[in-house]
Amino acid sequence: MVFFTGAGISAESGISTFRDPDGYWSKYDPMKLASPEGFKEDPELVLRWYAARRQLAGKAQPNPGHLAITQFQKLFPHSVVITQNVDGLHARAGNEPVWELHGNIHRQKCLKCAEEVAFNPDNPDGINYCACGGMLRPDVVWFGESLSISILNQAFDAVKSCSLLFTIGTSTQVYPAAQLPFEALNQGAFVIEVNPEPTPFSAKADLSLRDPVGKVLPNLYEEFYAALF
Ligand code: APR
Repeated sequence: MVFFTGAGISAESGISTFRDPDGYWSKYDPMKLASPEGFKEDPELVLRWYAARRQLAGKAQPNPGHLAITQFQKLFPHSVVITQNVDGLHARAGNEPVWELHGNIHRQKCLKCAEEVAFNPDNPDGINYCACGGMLRPDVVWFGESLSISILNQAFDAVKSCSLLFTIGTSTQVYPAAQLPFEALNQGAFVIEVNPEPTPFSAKADLSLRDPVGKVLPNLYEEFYAALF
């Protein structure tokens, strides 16, 4: 099984999505906050925004959707989580393995040498530098940047051999990640979409469940369990 997730799986943990009517991109300009150009123009603004998101994610708790995936992974040990989320909630729920396509806001790396560097406790929200002299930036994939080719290949390989893929809480608009559910269908997997709203993938899905993931996934887990034992 593959669990392909987006911001919607963290919505019930109190973390904003991006493209919903009250999502981040309805209030802020993504090019200012989530692009290399935006960071170059105003690094302090970008770092403040990521610090606020880091704090929110740190206080948030995994919700029944994340926790149901932990249960599924115990039942089906070869199943993987492929997420576009950067909040770290999948791992905190005990999901394993979790492959983060767009990075993680709880890490930072050097703009120059790309080394991961620990946060400076004396200045966690401001501008800091690597030992090599490069400025530190959030370890996330911004608009216009490439995803890690090794994680992407790993994700496509898993999708090519899965029999069931859940596409959960994603608007299925940001590529290459959005290609994954289509790829699963192409190779003959059964694909279930869990999203209260329709997406560009909905018409193709084998099954579309239009309810919040925190309601849908625990129920589905119970049904799987009852059918198997
Ligand atoms: N349960 C399931 N789905 C939900 C829930 C919920 N409780 N609440 C909202 N959703 C759905 C919305 O209907 C929407 O389709 O989650 C989706 C969130 O879509 P986006 O905000 O576009 O988030 P995502 O698809 O993860 O965005 C992809 O875009 O800005 C970039 O890097 C960012 O990783 C992100 C990428």
